[in-house]
Amino acid sequence: MNGIKIAGLGKCVPGKVLTNDDLAKMVETNDEWIVSRTGIKTRHECTTESHGDLCLGAAKAALADAGVSPEQIGACIVATVSADNLCPAAACLLQRDLGLPEDIPCFDLDAACTGFLEALHVMECMLNASRRKFGLVVGAEALSRLVNWEDRGTCILFGDGAGAAVVECREGWEFTDTVLGCRGDEKLLHIPGAGSLEPSLISMEGTAVFRFAVEMIPKCIEQVLSRKQIGMEDVDYFVLHQANARIIDHVMHKLHIPEEKCYKNIQEYGNTSAASIPLALAELKELKKIGSGSRVLMVGFGGGMTWGGALVELA
Ligand code: UT7
Repeated sequence: MNGIKIAGLGKCVPGKVLTNDDLAKMVETNDEWIVSRTGIKTRHECTTESHGDLCLGAAKAALADAGVSPEQIGACIVATVSADNLCPAAACLLQRDLGLPEDIPCFDLDAACTGFLEALHVMECMLNASRRKFGLVVGAEALSRLVNWEDRGTCILFGDGAGAAVVECREGWEFTDTVLGCRGDEKLLHIPGAGSLEPSLISMEGTAVFRFAVEMIPKCIEQVLSRKQIGMEDVDYFVLHQANARIIDHVMHKLHIPEEKCYKNIQEYGNTSAASIPLALAELKELKKIGSGSRVLMVGFGGGMTWGGALVELA
């Protein structure tokens, strides 16, 4: 199997910024609690923008960054739990709006906050079987539509946004060999769907998810390093799913990862689920903290329960 590298990155976030003080007018909370327990100061919220607009904005930016034209794309996956429609998939509408070829697979993938990493793995496998060598992977969420605005334990956490990566697959590049896992559970993190009588709103057992995260992330990092037979020092940046700054700090401390090697943007965006990792990657590139040849170790975890880790290089 041939491997993939990231050829281009892009992001798109809605214009409206919701501050902790704004939330304190809606539920019994305050800025001090939210910042000290989560690290979140603001999050972006869709008003006029649709989920599809976020996908399109991030995808266009990633294609431009890669210098790749829509006709070169061999597959398109949108990782999400909050698309505009159950059908058609967000990826199908991207095919139309970007002018992607018609003879390629386009579909959405639901693995919650691990979605981007699962999608990268699926894309890598599919590109090995494609005559086109570029793929488009988008992580996008409009979670503000699924948040229970009366539940202070969850409504303060989530934000809207999208990140996208154009990946390239070439003969001779090492297979990524992504670490992925699942432990089926519908209590820890739940969004009821069409088969439920309950409203489609997010519910979460926060403390249990926190424990799950601090158990799984170090294991994922160690598994990725051991599969690749490299050490921490061979990684240029660590990008962990932005769910809670305390989770990230805990892992960095436990594994002795220096602060300057671990990116955090949760303070601005909150938890954007499947968008959080590609959004962080796009920002790191914009800030010129990563570029051609950089090696980034990413870890995702969340609903399902799911988890994943991968080391990718920028082309
Ligand atoms: O991407 C999916 C993955 N999701 C996550 O990784 C989330 C992981 N979990 C977390 O980030 C944390 O568990 C939370 C931030 C959700 C909650 O933090 P916590 O330190 O686990 O707080 P808690 O749920 O144990 O609640 C502590 C107290 C409670 O009050 P009492 O019972 O001690 O009186 C809560 O009612 O804090 C209260 N509380 C709040 N107070 C002010 C809960 N939410 C709030 C709030 N403002 N927004």
